[in-house]
Amino acid sequence: MTTPDLLKPYLFPKKILKFRENGSFKICCFSDLHQTSDYHPNTLAAMHGIIEKEQPDLVLLGGDLWNETPDATVEQLREFLDIFSAPMETRGIPWAHVYGNHDHDILMDRRLMQSVFESYPNCVSAHTEEGVDGVSNFLLPIRSSDDSRVAFAVWGLDTHNLSDRLKLRSGINLRAAHTAPDLPYGTSHWDFVHFNQLRWYYNTSEALEAYNGTPVDALMLMHAPILEFGICMKNPERTSLEGDALETLFSGSLNSGLFSTVLQRGDVRAIVSGHMHEDNFAADYCGVKLCFDGAIGFRGTDADIHRCARIFEINEQATETINTHLVYAKEVL
Ligand SMILES: [Fe+2]
Repeated sequence: MTTPDLLKPYLFPKKILKFRENGSFKICCFSDLHQTSDYHPNTLAAMHGIIEKEQPDLVLLGGDLWNETPDATVEQLREFLDIFSAPMETRGIPWAHVYGNHDHDILMDRRLMQSVFESYPNCVSAHTEEGVDGVSNFLLPIRSSDDSRVAFAVWGLDTHNLSDRLKLRSGINLRAAHTAPDLPYGTSHWDFVHFNQLRWYYNTSEALEAYNGTPVDALMLMHAPILEFGICMKNPERTSLEGDALETLFSGSLNSGLFSTVLQRGDVRAIVSGHMHEDNFAADYCGVKLCFDGAIGFRGTDADIHRCARIFEINEQATETINTHLVYAKEVL
């Protein structure tokens, strides 16, 4: 069978991901490191410790890896990545990433920056081409243990930076979207997933199903959460919310329809976000798990007690059910 053009960049990443012989696949999500190469040692130690404890098959970095230093050079970015990719690179564990708003603190061409990430042997991120906004959008197929089909997928979507930076042809200033005095689920001035990204996800997902012969259940990674996380926070019992919801939601400033697109496509079983440092809950809304992975970056404050990562466990015989739990840094330090 010929491979549809849409799938070609993604079907065969430089490291093929596969369920284990026993049918299991484990994913570890770290977000919000907020470090430079002058870093808090507990951040790196926690990443090493959690990976050692959980032995994941894939690590996802959910953005805001970096902090400040706008004039950083490629050499400085590489120095930083040498340090923070080491927990995966030294163990040969594949890893992928999406950018967060603070990854825009570096005023470096996005594609140059992405090429530095993708130069690491175990980095399996694959950037989208022109016509799809953002750089860190990806599809990662995970093959069945017998290598006969794609059994699961991980999608990454870029949530950009501030919505003020978005230039609309209509000239509308998006400040209006986040300066109303009473917003239903918190306040925000962050950008959102754009229509051409939704179109890319929907069309690529359809192509994957057609190529594979069956629908492919999936996990979706993005940095800034969607507004539906706020519905879960307002309805914790209805949504079986478990974990911390301590911080007001700072989601994308407009509801650009990601959640309804995911429901209509019917393949994404869980969405995981970073961005919120003191929220780490998992909830169930309309049959989709909406999860935060907390933050793994230590700041040397009392809030460091919350530092954690989120684990997803999938079985190839029942990919519609994803089990998830948190691992706190304090368990491994
Ligand atoms: Fe963020």
